[in-house]
Amino acid sequence: MRRRARWFKRLREEERRVKDRDLIKTVEEVLDPITMGHIERLLQRGVIWEMKGTISAGKEARVFWAKSRGGRDLAVKIYLSFTAEFRKSIRKYIIGDPRFENIPSGNFRRLIYEWTRKEYRNLQRLREAGVRVPEPIAFQGNVLVMEFLGEEGYRAPLLVEAVNDMTRDEILEAWREASELLRGIVCRARLVHADFSEYNIMVWRGSLWVIDVAQAVSHHHPYAEEFLVRDIRNIASFFEEHLGGEPPGLDGLRGELVSCLGSR
Ligand SMILES: Nc1ncnc2c1ncn2[C@@H]1O[C@H](COP(=O)(O)OP(=O)(O)O)[C@@H](O)[C@H]1O
Ligand SMILES: [Mg+2]
Repeated sequence: MRRRARWFKRLREEERRVKDRDLIKTVEEVLDPITMGHIERLLQRGVIWEMKGTISAGKEARVFWAKSRGGRDLAVKIYLSFTAEFRKSIRKYIIGDPRFENIPSGNFRRLIYEWTRKEYRNLQRLREAGVRVPEPIAFQGNVLVMEFLGEEGYRAPLLVEAVNDMTRDEILEAWREASELLRGIVCRARLVHADFSEYNIMVWRGSLWVIDVAQAVSHHHPYAEEFLVRDIRNIASFFEEHLGGEPPGLDGLRGELVSCLGSR
């Protein structure tokens, strides 16, 4: 508890605006003591210097904006949900995965830790394959630290938001980039994203970036092909809606991706 107070003191000293007092309250209310301990550890490790504001409060995870000691913007994704619904929803993605198989069924915290670690590893693997994803920086328990996509605390827009300001040519270019992202994920990183859509792509510095990769699976996963077909269908129907017709090269792309999967 004392350690925790030190962290808040730092926030209080540096941030005196009402908005930030609200933030301290929010962080305290939202994060349980064990999660606070993981954040404290990341502070001690020198990964995080201070927590700033909430970027997103989803059903399972919260994403915060934070700063590193050197002043670099960070995104801190914290998995908070230990509900039966969440366990059920991830079951499909972890079957046959040895990393999850020896976790005792009642140990939800271990399950979330492994899930966080899986997102970190997937980010690493995608990055090594040259796919644009946020650089993974660290993980600790249910807390994942990565590169912040955005400027000064303002996150970059999701594709679903950015599309409204795009010309038809830009949308066509975005489709080509999305196709290239899929090639990178499937043919080079040898993964299937399994939740690839306009909601998990950000538009930053003139390019498309993939986020939210905890559920991504390897080609050996029993549902890999099913997930891949769904990913292609979801992104294609988004572009179809905005282009007023099937995006160019869809059949070829589908064939190419399925054959990358087939060579597993
Ligand atoms: N690296 C990042 N930089 C900036 N914003 C991010 C980053 N990662 C996620 N976000 C924001 O947080 C939201 C939720 O993150 P996401 O990983 O998609 O989790 P989930 O959809 O499971 O809640 C995203 O829609 C995006 O707005
Ligand atoms: Mg998401």
